[in-house]
Amino acid sequence: MARPTGKQNYGRVVLVSCLALLAAGLVADFLWASSHRFSSIGMSLPSSVTTVIGQLPPNSNGKDTGKKKDKVRERKLSATFQDLAAPELKWEKMAAAPVPRLDGAAIQIRNFLYVFAGYGTIDIVHSHVDIYNFVDNTWGGRFDMPKEMAHSHLGMVTDGRYIYIVTGQYGPQCRGPTAKTFVLDTDTNTWSDFVPLPVPRYAPATQLWRGRLHVMGGSKENRHTPGLEHWSIGVKDGKAMEKEWRSEIPIPRGGPHRACVVVDDRLFVIGGQEGDFMAKPGSPIFKCSRRMEVVFSDVYMLDEEMKWKVMPSMPKPDSHFEFAWKVVNNSIVIVGGTTEKHPETKKMVLVGEIFQFNLNTMKWYVIGKLPYRVKTTLVGYWEGQLYFTSGQRDKGPDDPAPRKVMADMWRTKLILNP
Ligand SMILES: *[C@@H]1O[C@H](CO)[C@@H](O)[C@H](O)[C@H]1NC(C)=O
Repeated sequence: MARPTGKQNYGRVVLVSCLALLAAGLVADFLWASSHRFSSIGMSLPSSVTTVIGQLPPNSNGKDTGKKKDKVRERKLSATFQDLAAPELKWEKMAAAPVPRLDGAAIQIRNFLYVFAGYGTIDIVHSHVDIYNFVDNTWGGRFDMPKEMAHSHLGMVTDGRYIYIVTGQYGPQCRGPTAKTFVLDTDTNTWSDFVPLPVPRYAPATQLWRGRLHVMGGSKENRHTPGLEHWSIGVKDGKAMEKEWRSEIPIPRGGPHRACVVVDDRLFVIGGQEGDFMAKPGSPIFKCSRRMEVVFSDVYMLDEEMKWKVMPSMPKPDSHFEFAWKVVNNSIVIVGGTTEKHPETKKMVLVGEIFQFNLNTMKWYVIGKLPYRVKTTLVGYWEGQLYFTSGQRDKGPDDPAPRKVMADMWRTKLILNP
């Protein structure tokens, strides 16, 4: 008699504490590994939930109580339910970056990967550039960024020599973006000011296309509200050819954290999300607090008609890969990201796959599994090898929620579907 009652009580207590944790988790900043209090809450969540749903309490005699329905539910909502089947790849660990980095930016020029800015922790942002050399696989060449340049969520693109650095978030935690814009000449490592964007943007999609620097989407000043605006300005050799940005056709869907890629005279905008963490109202340190976000798989393309065309969607909703892509052999290769939040824990779910968008066939493929799930990682390609470094990885194979900010560099032989 006593046992079943105890069992029920146990279940109820766990369920109630789970709900309490869940509520706490919803308002908490559990993005950050540096926040021990909240990361430990985050840690306990998925296992408690699955304990309640599927497993017997520790004092049970192990007899099957016939909870078939609950077991089905557990399988469906296991922490890894969003992972897609993907080929295993052989990964080689290379020299780690000098600092761990989240929400930084990267640009590859020949055999050099320039890695910019980013958070080290939620309270510390980097204001320098590190350079990886694919020829001898070493890091070096550190130099400072201008003091006024944003530290994360930058728009960035290169013509092969000049790197345009547009707007982005200035400062740590969830401070807002600046409109300030710069150019780096990588031949001399010297910076110049550039025409500021009409308004500050957070993580806008940025590309060079037909002699113009294009900037679109991203979030507005509060980090959360999607911007639909699209501007361009004529550029040549690191200089503006016009005095002002001009308005272009708005993007069909706004928001930050997407890839913006030009291939064969067409501009693609891939994935992304609407909404993001915001500063807690009145917080003197602009403390990050979670807000609703919607991750999407949409792909849009702009060609000479200057009308957005809808392209085949990604294999799953994906965001947080703005510098985690490369174009190789007329395919766009995308590494990791984040997908829709877990429906029960509501926690962010990282992506552990590599995707290929083959522009010959206009088809998407899942072409490999990463050593761990990772968001806002930074990607390069050199002599058949795909490299990635930095970003925030998962808690482990069974828990796709974000945890540690990484410095590691990995590479694998890239195998594409023709
Ligand atoms: C790209 O194409 C070239 C030429 O066909 C081929 O040799 C190479 O293996 C391809 N690279 C990848 C990663 O598929």
